[in-house]
Amino acid sequence: DSTDQLYRTAYHFQPPKNWINDPNGPLIYKGLYHLFYQYNPKGAVWGNIVWAHSISTDLVNWTPLDPAIFPSQPSDVNGCWSGSATILHGNKPAILYTGINKFNHQVQNIAYPKNLNDPFLREWIKSPKNPLMEPTIENKINASSFRDPTTGWLGKDGHWRILVGSKRNTRGVAILYKSKDFINWNKSKHPLHSAKGTGMWECPDFFPVLKIGKFGVDTSSNNDDVRHVLKVSLDDKKHDYYLIGSYNEGKDKFTPDHGFEEVSSEHVLRYDYGKYYASKTFFDYGKNRRILLGWVNESSSVADDIKKGWSGIHTIPRAIWLHKSGKQLVQWPVLELEKLRLNHVNLPAKVLKGGELLQINGITAAQADVEISFEVNNIRDAEVLDKWTDPQILCSQSSSRKNGLGPFGLLVFASKGLKEFTSVFFRIFKHQQKPLVLFCSDQSRSSLNKDNDLTTYGTFIDVDVLREKLSLRSLIDHSVVESFGGEGRASITARVYPTLAINDKALLYAFNNGTAGVKITSLNAWSMKKAQLNGKL
Ligand code: FRU
Repeated sequence: DSTDQLYRTAYHFQPPKNWINDPNGPLIYKGLYHLFYQYNPKGAVWGNIVWAHSISTDLVNWTPLDPAIFPSQPSDVNGCWSGSATILHGNKPAILYTGINKFNHQVQNIAYPKNLNDPFLREWIKSPKNPLMEPTIENKINASSFRDPTTGWLGKDGHWRILVGSKRNTRGVAILYKSKDFINWNKSKHPLHSAKGTGMWECPDFFPVLKIGKFGVDTSSNNDDVRHVLKVSLDDKKHDYYLIGSYNEGKDKFTPDHGFEEVSSEHVLRYDYGKYYASKTFFDYGKNRRILLGWVNESSSVADDIKKGWSGIHTIPRAIWLHKSGKQLVQWPVLELEKLRLNHVNLPAKVLKGGELLQINGITAAQADVEISFEVNNIRDAEVLDKWTDPQILCSQSSSRKNGLGPFGLLVFASKGLKEFTSVFFRIFKHQQKPLVLFCSDQSRSSLNKDNDLTTYGTFIDVDVLREKLSLRSLIDHSVVESFGGEGRASITARVYPTLAINDKALLYAFNNGTAGVKITSLNAWSMKKAQLNGKL
C-alpha cells in the first residue's frame, strides 16, 4: 500500500525495489551517461550481487537497462562486486570488477561491450582470460581482502596502472598493478600508498585535480597543473576519506600532504560527514568536469527495509574540484538538477533574532531545494571553545537554545508543533581568538519512530565568517537531507523517516537558537519536480 512507500525519493537515484549499494563503473559514452551499481535482484537486503545498469542524458533522469554483469564464469560465480570503467584507446570502454570465484576468493575480472555501435552498451562480454589478477601463495594477497579495482590511468611510459583495495593485517593498502595491454597485469613491489591501523581499504579512487579552477581533467593527466587525490572507503569506519598529495609517476608513489596517521585528526578529510560510502568519480569529458557518485544506506531497521521492499539510494551526482586554498576539495550538485526547480520563493534580507523561528511557505517542503546565506559581522557574542573537541559531539549538544552565536540554520521535515524535525545548522565559536564554524545535521528529533538510527553528524568547516558569507543548501527528498555548507566545502547527508512531517504535512523553517541576532542575506527555495528515476526509453 502507498503508506509503505512514503520514504521513496523523488529525485535521488533509486531503482523500483530491492537492495542497492556502491555506484560502479560510471562513464560517459557517445553522449550518454552510464551508471552501474551493486544490486540484489532478489530482495531488500545485501546478497546475490550483480551490476545493475541505468543510462541518462543529464545525470538526473535515468532509464534502467538489464543487468550488465552477473555471475556466469568460475571467476565470478559467487558475485560480481565493485569496480570501475576505463576508456581505452579508440574510445573503447572496459570494466574491471571484482569476481567472487568458486573458492569464494576475490579476483579481478574484465568485461567489454559486446557491440560498440550500441550507445546503450547493453551487453557485456567477459574475457576468457579472467581472472586477470588473483591472490596466490607467492603474492601473499589476502583472498578475502582484495577488491574494487579503480579506473586505469596511463603513464608516459605507455603502461596502464590501476589500484586494488586490500589490507595486510590491519594496514590498509592500495595495491598497484601495471599493464601494457590492460589484460596482462603485473603487481608492483610497492603499493601506491598504505597506512597502518586503517583496516581494509574498499573502493579506492585515485585521480588528478587542477590546482586552479573548477574544471576536471582526464584520469591520466599528470603535469605541473595538477595535484592528486586518493580516496578510500574505510570498512572499519564506514566513511569515505581522502588525501590530497603529489604523485610521482616514475616512482609510482603517492605522497599525501597530510597522511592517515590519525584518522580522527582534523587533517583527514571526508567527502561527506553523514551517511555516505563507497563513492567513485569519473571524468565527464563532455562537460570537462569530474563527477562524484556515492551510496547512502538506510537508517531504518532491516525489518522496515524488508517491509518497504527496498534499501539504499545514491546522492545527487556532484561536481568536484580543488578549493583555492589547495587544502580540500569542493563539491556541488550538478547544475542539471536545477531543471527540476519550480515555485521559486525568495525572502528579502532580514535579521533573525535570538530565539526566532521563520516559516518558509509556498513550496513542497518534503521535496525541495533550499539555499540560505548568513552574514556574521563579529564574534563578540560567540561562545569560547578552549580546546579542540570532536565536532560530532559538539553537534549533538548544539541544536537547542544556547548562549552565543548560533545554532542557526534550517529546520527541515518539521511537523506542526515541532514534534518532529531535523535541524541543519551552524554554530560559531571563538577559538584562539578566531571564529571556528561548526556545521551539523541533527537527526535526534527527526522521527517518533525510535527504531531508526538517529545519530547526529557534524564537522568544522573552513569558512572565514568575518570576510565571507556563510551559506547552506539542503536537498530535501522524503527520506533524505543532503546538505552543503560553505558553498560545498563540507557536505552532510542524512536519512530520516518522519511519521508526522510527511508529504504536505512537512514544514520548513529558518531558525536561530542562539542569543545573538544573525542576518539572513538571501533565502531562495524551490519545490522540486519528480525526476524520471526509472523512466522508459
Ligand atoms: C563496499 C563493498 C565493496 C564490495 C561491494 C560488495 O560497500 O563492500 O568493497 O566490492 O561493496 O557489494
